[in-house]
Amino acid sequence: MNLKSRECVIVGGGQVALRKARLLASAHAKLVVIAPEICEELKNLEQVHAIYQREFRDDDIDNATLVVVTTNDTQLNRHVSKLAQQKNLPVNVVDNPALCSFITPSIVDRSPIVVAISSGGTAPVLARSLRARLESLVPPEYGQLAASMGKLRDQLKSKMPAEKDRRIFWEKIVNGPIAKKFLSGNSDNAIQQLQRAINSTEKSTNYTNHGSVALVGAGPGNPDLLTFRALRLMQSADIVLYDRLVSPEIVDLCRRDAERIYVGKQRNNHAVPQPKINQLLVELAQKGNAVVRLKGGDPFIFGRGGEEIEDLAEARISFEVVPGITAASGCSSYSGIPLTHRNYAQACVFVTGHLKGGTVNLNWQQLANANQTIVVYMGLEGLPIICRELINHGLESSTPAALIEQGTTPRQQVITSNLGNLSELVAERSVTAPTLMIIGGVVNLYEKLNWFSVTPNTD
Ligand SMILES: C[S@@+](CC[C@H](N)C(=O)[O-])C[C@H]1O[C@@H](n2cnc3c(N)ncnc32)[C@H](O)[C@@H]1O
Repeated sequence: MNLKSRECVIVGGGQVALRKARLLASAHAKLVVIAPEICEELKNLEQVHAIYQREFRDDDIDNATLVVVTTNDTQLNRHVSKLAQQKNLPVNVVDNPALCSFITPSIVDRSPIVVAISSGGTAPVLARSLRARLESLVPPEYGQLAASMGKLRDQLKSKMPAEKDRRIFWEKIVNGPIAKKFLSGNSDNAIQQLQRAINSTEKSTNYTNHGSVALVGAGPGNPDLLTFRALRLMQSADIVLYDRLVSPEIVDLCRRDAERIYVGKQRNNHAVPQPKINQLLVELAQKGNAVVRLKGGDPFIFGRGGEEIEDLAEARISFEVVPGITAASGCSSYSGIPLTHRNYAQACVFVTGHLKGGTVNLNWQQLANANQTIVVYMGLEGLPIICRELINHGLESSTPAALIEQGTTPRQQVITSNLGNLSELVAERSVTAPTLMIIGGVVNLYEKLNWFSVTPNTD
């Protein structure tokens, strides 16, 4: 709310009134204070325009833009609140949300950047504690960076008429060395560089033809496991293509205005066939879009990421690949089953258990090695075949094996057993994909090390 030179009436004259007066003064309001007793500091506040040391009168708020009430007199508080609301004036009665038509949030002030935190009047102490954390997180130089960007906006606008080009320009500034310079306190130099960057921007510069694709690993489902790079690209994308394994919480973190295209795949049922996805990426980038292709886990581990960027490379479109936490790492950590361990496994192999023509084609001889951990992706359907073949090729049926369902998410379930019994146990339960199998001695550690959710050992 723009309060500059507007009359703001504070009813009350104690310490709380003083706090509110300071806040309103920082917005350059014209302050009027009314109370039979008014503390000295408030009387001496420079921005106070008028002081009436007496009881409140109804016509005191006739010229007000906003009213704040800070008295201990509940009847008076209710009366002023009602009166203000009848006149359609915003009113705040301190510590009484029911009588307020607006509340004052805790703020982190890096003007012109202001972060407001509100608990809707329910837990102001919690809001203040969050504010304290943000205070330490947002360097004071943010204000100066914002102010400098504001001053140069019009200049850039005249050089770059397209809104999208300007957005790309500012994103590069904010994520690049000029912003770093500002934040490290070297603002004079940073302003010069910013000015130079704008001067060297030709009117004819057509950024729109320079689209790009980022193949981004979104991790195994838990949004906390995204990388900073992934998040940054997601928040500056024009278009996001995502599939079934990317959780809705993660898709929600993409730039609000980005177009979202679901290209979801389910086993044997490709919503958009792979060649079509590859082609779509090329077409969207050629139109000048910053495209993010979000993929579950890591794009280069059973993710067909290689195929997607092959077409981009052939079309000479600029691309990058952002690694993600693969399901094996996520499920291993969140189930407390290390993939290697000096006592159990000196090697670890990742295989796909995908069924093809009713069977799983793997080099069983090579896999049936007691000192290694086997991680099976996409193995739920083929689970009985996998367990049987490993036993047939020499692993003991007592070899520990675990199935991790929806790993790293709040819905994670872990079933531990052995090669001889796992498929039977799984068949008895209703298991929800995605699932990952870990086979080998390391599974013994689950009982001791599982920390994320307490699931009974069903062995
Ligand atoms: C097509 S692959 C994609 C793998 C992905 N690129 C990665 O690096 O994790 C899909 C398989 O990954 C495994 N998977 C992915 N996310 C999982 C999760 N949260 N929990 C268990 N398994 C998961 C399942 O085996 C699923 O069938």
